[in-house]
Amino acid sequence: AGADVTALAICAAHDNRPDELLEIFHDLQHELGYVPEQTLPVIANALNRSRAEVYGVLTFYHEFRRTPGGRHNIKICRAEACQAMHTQNLCRHAEDKLKVKFGETTADGQFSLEAVYCLGNCALSPAMMIDGDLYGCVDKERFDSIIADLDR
Ligand code: FES
Repeated sequence: AGADVTALAICAAHDNRPDELLEIFHDLQHELGYVPEQTLPVIANALNRSRAEVYGVLTFYHEFRRTPGGRHNIKICRAEACQAMHTQNLCRHAEDKLKVKFGETTADGQFSLEAVYCLGNCALSPAMMIDGDLYGCVDKERFDSIIADLDR
């Protein structure tokens, strides 16, 4: 119920304006760490939109988390410059290593994995960000050692 109240308050702070839905999701994720499914009907109602519409917006943008995040939040860049430097190999490796898909959190709650689209670090592709810290030229070995350092 707490999440519902938070969602209502955030909608109200945005004057229940449907054109501010993205900002509302951002605020909610900032408050709660993710956008809980249970808040969608509340938001839809407040903004006078259908649930399907609100859900569609939420899932369209990969930056929103729909489950609670891990202790460490790993964001791997999947935009063009990083793609050219084989970020897809790194992404596959990260999923295998952590045994999660993008948008999910490891069973022990240590790591959540997210995709981002350009971290402004294209010169050092492939790039990733963990808890706000930027890493460049990340290959499989580097990924493993960074993770091992954090997982203590
Ligand atoms: Fe990955 Fe810019 S494309 S950091």
